[in-house]
Amino acid sequence: MTLADVLPTMGRCLHTRLEPDIWPLGTTLGQDGLVFAGVPAVSLAAQFGTPAYVLAEDAFRLRCRDFRAALPEMEVAYAGKSLLCRAVLRWVMEEGLSLDVCSAGELAVARAVGFPASRILMHGNVKTPEDLKAALAYGVDRIVVDSLDEIAELGTLARYPQRVLIRVTPGVDAHTHKAITTGVDSQKFGFPLSTAMDAVSAVLAQPSLRLAGVHCHIGSQVSTVAAYEETARRMVSLLGAVRDRFGVVLRELDLGGGYAVPYLTGEPGFDLVGYAQRVRVAVSYTASLLGLAVPRLTVEPGRSLAGPAGVTLYRVVAVKGSFVAVDGGMSDNMRVALYGAKYCVRLAGRSSCAPLRTVTVVGRHCEAGDVIASDVGLPGDVHAGDLLAVPVTGAYHHSLASNYNQVCRPPIVGVRDGIARPLVRRETEEDLAARDVG
Ligand code: LLP
Repeated sequence: MTLADVLPTMGRCLHTRLEPDIWPLGTTLGQDGLVFAGVPAVSLAAQFGTPAYVLAEDAFRLRCRDFRAALPEMEVAYAGKSLLCRAVLRWVMEEGLSLDVCSAGELAVARAVGFPASRILMHGNVKTPEDLKAALAYGVDRIVVDSLDEIAELGTLARYPQRVLIRVTPGVDAHTHKAITTGVDSQKFGFPLSTAMDAVSAVLAQPSLRLAGVHCHIGSQVSTVAAYEETARRMVSLLGAVRDRFGVVLRELDLGGGYAVPYLTGEPGFDLVGYAQRVRVAVSYTASLLGLAVPRLTVEPGRSLAGPAGVTLYRVVAVKGSFVAVDGGMSDNMRVALYGAKYCVRLAGRSSCAPLRTVTVVGRHCEAGDVIASDVGLPGDVHAGDLLAVPVTGAYHHSLASNYNQVCRPPIVGVRDGIARPLVRRETEEDLAARDVG
């Protein structure tokens, strides 16, 4: 049953409408609650238990296609850290994207699906020798170097010609949360523009390395195009400065990811088409002023592909005053505690026309800050046993999940065309016990 079928029977029960900007493509709302890509929330909870991450495959794939269509001349590399499992990497591979990994562990997942090494980049402000060796053994196309120590280490381990990019901090403030602002000089990533030349010279001095270009990533959940435009100008100017100083023409420019998604209805989505036009102009104009050929551009979206495709399902365990307590919490959603993130919560297993009341949805963990959503409206008759759904939880939820209080991490369940299948199974107490060897 779709929203259109149900609405006429609902009279003035307006809070039973779905907000199309925050629910995955293919989500509908009927009298029995939410339905994801043809699979009712009630069936998902019955089959897989709660909490559970639900991932709409078509929604994920469509975002991959949106990026490729908007940026056809650019390489689109999925930032694996946002959500990584084998099924997702197969979708990424099939959609023709490249991949960015930042550890040997992330690379191992790529290896497990045979992701082509020629389409992989490895990042990270700390790459251990094990990370570097894993990248070299698999033959990843580019390693993004982040410190002089790493350049020396990689130079020793690598065989010519290992392609590298230098991560640079362009000094552009993307005006996002401090914990995910990475384009300014006062943080740990990359080389500030003032020392980028030292890194260039260090890479050029390593016979085993071939300097292919430069990389930057100004932050995450960045909502304005202007910050990227300014970044693009500064980075192309850097390419000009490298040519002037070293006589080396670098042909690759990686602009990173960070494109914002709406978490609450009405929040602006990122203007991808505007981004494409304005960044293209900024790059080609600056390049032409400097007499440079337009470099090959790479972008690295993570959240914007995975985030909107995911929903978390919880079961209400208790209602106590204005608190609605669920069977998950900060172990499956760290983003509220880390960044003060705000979420919408909906009743998922039935419909209700009870007037909304303002509640705070809290988790099961032993911390007062274990909150899923503060001051949200839920039908006044919400009770223990109800199912709740939280949208836009596809990115940085499973990947940031923990076992706090020895709680087992939820499964990821893929939904498509009315079929649900486990992509990552629920963690078990045996899984946890297996590591406890003392
Ligand atoms: N490229 C690099 C080098 C990155 O460090 C990141 C994210 C990305 C691309 C992808 O950024 P995205 O398009 O997903 O914003 N845990 C935080 C986000 C941390 C982002 C870390 N780096 C959160 O949940 O908001």
